[in-house]
Amino acid sequence: MGDLVTATDFLVTTPLPDPGMSLLEAAGTVTVAGNGMSHAELAEACASGNYKVVVAQLRDEFDASLLDRAKIAGISNFAVGYNNIDITAATANSIIVGNTPGVLTDATADIAILLMLAVARRCVEADAFVRAGKFHGWEPELLLGHDVSGKTLGLAGFGRIARATARRALAFGMTVVFCPRPPGDREVSDEELGEFAGKVGHISWPELIATSDYLSVHVPLNDQTRHLVDADVLNAMKPSAILINTARGPIVDERALVAALQGGTIAGAGLDVYEDEPRLAPGLAELPNTVLLPHVGSATVPVRAEMARRCAENAIMMVRGEMPPYPVNPEALAG
Ligand code: GLV
Repeated sequence: MGDLVTATDFLVTTPLPDPGMSLLEAAGTVTVAGNGMSHAELAEACASGNYKVVVAQLRDEFDASLLDRAKIAGISNFAVGYNNIDITAATANSIIVGNTPGVLTDATADIAILLMLAVARRCVEADAFVRAGKFHGWEPELLLGHDVSGKTLGLAGFGRIARATARRALAFGMTVVFCPRPPGDREVSDEELGEFAGKVGHISWPELIATSDYLSVHVPLNDQTRHLVDADVLNAMKPSAILINTARGPIVDERALVAALQGGTIAGAGLDVYEDEPRLAPGLAELPNTVLLPHVGSATVPVRAEMARRCAENAIMMVRGEMPPYPVNPEALAG
């Protein structure tokens, strides 16, 4: 850890919503970088020995070369995901990482359903139509879309957010199927199925791809899931299918998706995340059969406040050299 005795307790790369900053300020010394840092600035700050714990955002990239030089005790990520941090390298350097699990489950599932309905019912096109003064009265064939009731929702993954999405979809009268660890599989016990026993179907990834009317992605980004939805998968989907991604952009090959949407291989897509955020693949923004959101899955006032609280609580425990309440790599503190 180096000599951190005189270091500032918290380096905050981007200010947290309330009550995050006040909790940090009450617990120690705080430096706020402003509104984000370049990778070089972040690497320099981490290597300087001037900060004990970094309070970070998903756009702050902690790769192995940064972590190998870093003289920090911990990284408290303001997110449930942590694919911006090389966890193996963090652990090797005894840097504890924390995240904010649990609190954004329902909000993100709401956005998955919102995207599904918005694409199916052409909500964004319809809104633009009204605002453009084109609405001249009810018409039998105006802006016809797709049903969701009676249709099949396929969930790639069966974690917290997938389950919350399943709960909502069942209430809409959808058939819900899932593959817990695509492209492979794993056992799901009756205990794990819990409230969903007898209500949702566990099927293989190829079956899920072929049978889903709506395919919603709910897996973490890792080497197994990068480009999980590629051109081959898109080709194997129904031409009427709609893809929803509220997880991580690189799980979908975005260029292949644009080609599939342009060519009618699938019918539509609702995206909250992008492969190279905040940039979009060429052609995506021009497609009328997409609804595109700016990574707002957890963006409600109460959820962001609770994330900020958890993020601050993690950071405070890290500064004290104690186990944070939501550790990603608890083994980093072993010994
Ligand atoms: C948002 O994407 C998160 O991981 O919290």
